[in-house]
Amino acid sequence: MHIKAIPALEDNYIWLIKTGEDVVVVDPGESEPLIDYLQTSGLKVKAILLTHFHEDHVGGLSELLASQKHEVTVYGPIEVEDQVNQVVKDGDRLEINGWEFEVLKTPGHSAEHISYLMDKHLFCGDVLFSAGCGRVFTNDYQAQYDSLQKIKALSDETQIYAGHEYTLTNLAFSLTIEPDNQDLMNQQQAVKDRRSKGLPSLPTNLAVVKKINLFLQAESLKDFIQLRKVRDQF
Ligand SMILES: [Fe+2]
Repeated sequence: MHIKAIPALEDNYIWLIKTGEDVVVVDPGESEPLIDYLQTSGLKVKAILLTHFHEDHVGGLSELLASQKHEVTVYGPIEVEDQVNQVVKDGDRLEINGWEFEVLKTPGHSAEHISYLMDKHLFCGDVLFSAGCGRVFTNDYQAQYDSLQKIKALSDETQIYAGHEYTLTNLAFSLTIEPDNQDLMNQQQAVKDRRSKGLPSLPTNLAVVKKINLFLQAESLKDFIQLRKVRDQF
């Protein structure tokens, strides 16, 4: 099994979980780079997982399906029920390609946002980023805070596969809040090096994220709301 990022749109990642010639696609936000890659590599889509309804996560779905010559099962939360074969909910366990994916409800960014945990790999859409978290479009800050706490409780070795390359922006923001934080500075240098080579900053493991993510570190809902509102203006 190998997991690969396909950069899409401005700063999205489409995640591919490959086993031999079979691939599971997470959040196909744009069809062109994805279909190009699948055709060049001779890969066949087994299933598609959606985390939430935003266009930059589902925009490539219909063209991707049209490009496949066989039936593909699409899974997603109730907010994308028109686009999926199977609506999934918190606690569901999906058996795909010999791998088990557990569904975790992680609302706040959108009302029905879900994440998928496969072994120690978490595909978390826009709920959590390496050094940040998704904007709370629902205004349900409690839900978003609880979603972050739920992820924080997972094993430290969990690899985080988020939907966007926002790491440097989030680190720059975090350094305005904690300018002397050495962990933030070290991570900023490490990520700059990776990005200058054209490599994604993701995945990263939860132990690292806990060290550098001020949103995960917020000790109360009140602190989280304050931080998120400052970030919205950054
Ligand atoms: Fe989103």
